[in-house]
Amino acid sequence: MPKVLFVIGVGPGSPSYLTDAAKEAIRRSQYIVGYRYTLSTIESIIDRSRQKIFEVTMKTQEGIYTKVYDAMQDGECCTVPFTGDASFSESEVVDRLLQIFGEENVEIIPGISSIQVAAAKSRVPIDKSLVVTFHVTGDIEQKKQDLLKAVSDGKSVILLPRPWPNDPAKHFMQSDIARFLRKSDINTGGLKVWVFEHLTTDKETIFRGNVSDLEGRDFSDLSVMVIDQVERKTYLEFN
Ligand SMILES: C[S@@+](CC[C@H](N)C(=O)[O-])C[C@H]1O[C@@H](n2cnc3c(N)ncnc32)[C@H](O)[C@@H]1O
Repeated sequence: MPKVLFVIGVGPGSPSYLTDAAKEAIRRSQYIVGYRYTLSTIESIIDRSRQKIFEVTMKTQEGIYTKVYDAMQDGECCTVPFTGDASFSESEVVDRLLQIFGEENVEIIPGISSIQVAAAKSRVPIDKSLVVTFHVTGDIEQKKQDLLKAVSDGKSVILLPRPWPNDPAKHFMQSDIARFLRKSDINTGGLKVWVFEHLTTDKETIFRGNVSDLEGRDFSDLSVMVIDQVERKTYLEFN
């Protein structure tokens, strides 16, 4: 029997976005390893008297994932919870977990992404949008060009910005995005935007305005931005 890993999405904050499948994976696990924010979302399901819980940070995660893997007995299960959906904007970590546990021993259980909640609240369909994450450590130049092309083509965009507190040059938050679009000859004064912070939690806020309003304005790291260029079209138009 191999060591089994459940990579689960737990929704963007509120436990009410947690699926029964994710809860079942947690209950089956002897080990739970996650970031503080994600562990707090599943706190009510964890049993600290029976399960071994490890909190990780970007700095400690490599050591803890390998330590837990080594400590596990054959047939035991570990859950690593991710905010939102584990298949969106998490691949730098998920890819490492697939390496450690072996692809065939990992089950990925989808969750509800912050992107989906932002789409629902702005009523901007995901299938009519460019969906892009800047929340990566790798290079984002191609993604910036994709953003520019989508906006120029009249598409909506649902995006995660990039917070980088220790290096302002790598920061690509709402204000930087607005400036980038303006400098690329986009009329940001006529471009509708939403910014959602702390979605599904009691700190949730919604900003609505034009992209030009974002310049010089700070938002939380925990935010999703939606550039809204949707044209509504119902099935009546296709009859
Ligand atoms: C590493 S990415 C993970 C995205 C996640 N896998 C998802 O599907 O939502 C982290 C970023 O997701 C966004 N995010 C996650 N939870 C959020 C929330 N409750 N409200 C707003 N944005 C959130 C923020 O942009 C945050 O910096």
